[in-house]
Amino acid sequence: MAFPILTIFVLVLLSASCATSASVQENFIQCLDANSDDPIPALCSRSNSSFTSFLNSTAQNLRYLLPSVPKPEFIFFPSHESHVQAAVICARKLAIHLRFRSGGHDYEGLSYASETETPFILLDLARLRSIDVDIDDNSAWVQAGATVGEVYYRISEKSKTHGFPAGLCSSLGIGGHITGGAYGSMMRKYGLGADNVLDARIVDVNGEILDRAAMGEDLFWAIRGGGGASFGIILEWKIKLVPVPETVTVFTVPKTLEQGATKTLYRWQQVADKLDDDLFIRVMIQVTNADQKGERSRTVTTAYNALYLGDADSLLRVMNRSFPELGLTRKDCIETSWIKSVLYIAGFPSDTPPEVLLQGKSLFKNYFKAKSDFVQQPIPETGLEGLWERLLKEDSPLMIWNPYGGMMANISESAIPFPHRKGNLFKIQYVTSWSDGSDESSVKHMDWIRGLYDYMSAYVPTSPRAAYVNYRDLDLGMNRNKNTSSAEASAWGDMYFKGNFQRLVQVKSKVDPDNFFRHEQSIPVVLEQNQY
Ligand SMILES: Cc1cc2nc3c(=O)[nH]c(=O)nc-3n(C[C@H](O)[C@H](O)[C@H](O)COP(=O)(O)OP(=O)(O)OC[C@H]3O[C@@H](n4cnc5c(N)ncnc54)[C@H](O)[C@@H]3O)c2cc1C
Ligand SMILES: *[C@@H]1O[C@H](CO)[C@@H](O)[C@H](O)[C@H]1NC(C)=O
Ligand SMILES: *[C@@H]1O[C@H](CO)[C@@H](O)[C@H](O)[C@H]1NC(C)=O
Ligand SMILES: *[C@@H]1O[C@H](CO)[C@@H](O)[C@H](O)[C@H]1NC(C)=O
Ligand SMILES: *[C@@H]1O[C@H](CO)[C@@H](O)[C@H](O)[C@H]1NC(C)=O
Ligand SMILES: *[C@@H]1O[C@H](CO)[C@@H](O)[C@H](O)[C@H]1NC(C)=O
Repeated sequence: MAFPILTIFVLVLLSASCATSASVQENFIQCLDANSDDPIPALCSRSNSSFTSFLNSTAQNLRYLLPSVPKPEFIFFPSHESHVQAAVICARKLAIHLRFRSGGHDYEGLSYASETETPFILLDLARLRSIDVDIDDNSAWVQAGATVGEVYYRISEKSKTHGFPAGLCSSLGIGGHITGGAYGSMMRKYGLGADNVLDARIVDVNGEILDRAAMGEDLFWAIRGGGGASFGIILEWKIKLVPVPETVTVFTVPKTLEQGATKTLYRWQQVADKLDDDLFIRVMIQVTNADQKGERSRTVTTAYNALYLGDADSLLRVMNRSFPELGLTRKDCIETSWIKSVLYIAGFPSDTPPEVLLQGKSLFKNYFKAKSDFVQQPIPETGLEGLWERLLKEDSPLMIWNPYGGMMANISESAIPFPHRKGNLFKIQYVTSWSDGSDESSVKHMDWIRGLYDYMSAYVPTSPRAAYVNYRDLDLGMNRNKNTSSAEASAWGDMYFKGNFQRLVQVKSKVDPDNFFRHEQSIPVVLEQNQY
């Protein structure tokens, strides 16, 4: 007797779950139709033969595309602002969890994968990518789905002497990028992308479009650095253009351990934040193969990769005065236009035409885990040597050391939610990447980077230890629960935002009290008592 009943029960369950998925989609479409005057484009459902390639399209971290990671019920590509408004209204009405993506570079895949809350649907803003540059007004309106590369290109199309100080990697989506800060090679001169935002248009939890005047200064403050997807959906940013000279200079000078990398890097730590504001020298640190007395052996290479807002003669004078230890020579220097410096810093081969920026192609797509630190005291040479030992044990480690100082030290910690300003010498990004999706690889590389992070705790401030929200790291606070709990949140909240976290919580509580816009590390609505 039990057998047929069980069978019927299973059948009922199965058909119920099929019906759920199909009817969520149907109900969603009906609701969209009722809430938008613009025709609704076809949704991309899981049965669509292109579902995986649409989902993969801009996703950067392959860890979050593995078959074991939950996939959205369907993907919706809005082509009008009203579609975004309707999507918010309908996701709320149908009580279905919503994730949204601009450029797909989230380090923990939070814009396209939800490991904690299922089912969920994905709103992909890739088709909202228009850019309107107004040189006379020194500004541009940029829709969320545009990449920073496209923004740079459209600016350079209209002027050789205007630029925008945001990320180095050309495929970043401007929508998510600015929500966390957005730094790049002009940060020492002009600050972050988020420091150069004049206005924004956002869809709030009620599906209404608010500009700066309508949202008010608290919310406008919160969206410029408070992290993605906590307050609403940015439709477009109005950015302030900055002046760039017609000729800029770039260089990359590598030094291996055998060439005295340790001493030079120790020196760089003392000068990098004090250099001329026009000069940005970051250090890319990797393990490479070197020929040593005819034998191949692994070594650490530190590559000094720089942008100078001026010509080579003047750069050489600056370097001779402030950092002669690097030994920069005239033939290391490449004079070029600002837009070509963007391609150079992003890592494109030297003959690549700027039009490549319009393709939004990513140069970096693999399985990876990353972490960040802010350094306020030079790391001694013995500390560096311990670091080299650890790097040499890993397959493909990468560190990027990014200088602070200049304008970064001139902006107050509370001007926007991004708090890492005066007192920071540089930021470290640690990355390990691998190319196969096995659990074994993942465990091995995650263990390695967590060990490295523990090792580095001796050399960075620890109360709180600081981290960059755009380098999202779900290890912080170890929050793996469904909804953000406030006790855990305050661990990463303090690390990403320091004293600004509390104000972010206040703004969040006011504009989204039911916590509709949420993910594993979204700003929580209330803090438990005694957290502050
Ligand atoms: C290869 C690589 C290079 C990078 N280089 C830099 C760099 O040079 N400088 C730097 O500062 N950072 C850099 N980053 C980090 C990058 O700034 C963040 O990952 C940023 O969040 C990416 O924005 P996105 O739109 O591409 O990502 P998405 O994954 O689409 O979004 C990131 C987060 O923002 C939310 N979000 C997306 N769109 C919106 C929107 N319209 N409104 C509100 N929230 C939204 C998402 O839900 C998600 O939580 C890099 C990342 C990668 C992978
Ligand atoms: C598959 O999804 C794409 C993107 O949403 C859509 O344009 C296309 O019409 C879909 N195909 C089918 C058969 O539904
Ligand atoms: C999408 O990415 C996953 C993970 O890398 C891969 O297994 C799959 O083949 C990709 N699919 C498509 C259609 O690109
Ligand atoms: C660097 O400056 C010193 C004087 O401080 C000068 O003697 C030397 O020639 C300069 N070198 C270069 C390459 O400019
Ligand atoms: C930062 O402030 C200092 C001191 O006022 C000033 O000399 C410097 O030019 C400023 N830097 C930038 C990039 O504005
Ligand atoms: C998370 O919070 C939302 C809003 O408060 C609530 O609707 C949802 O049921 C919660 N999810 C879980 C799993 O607790």
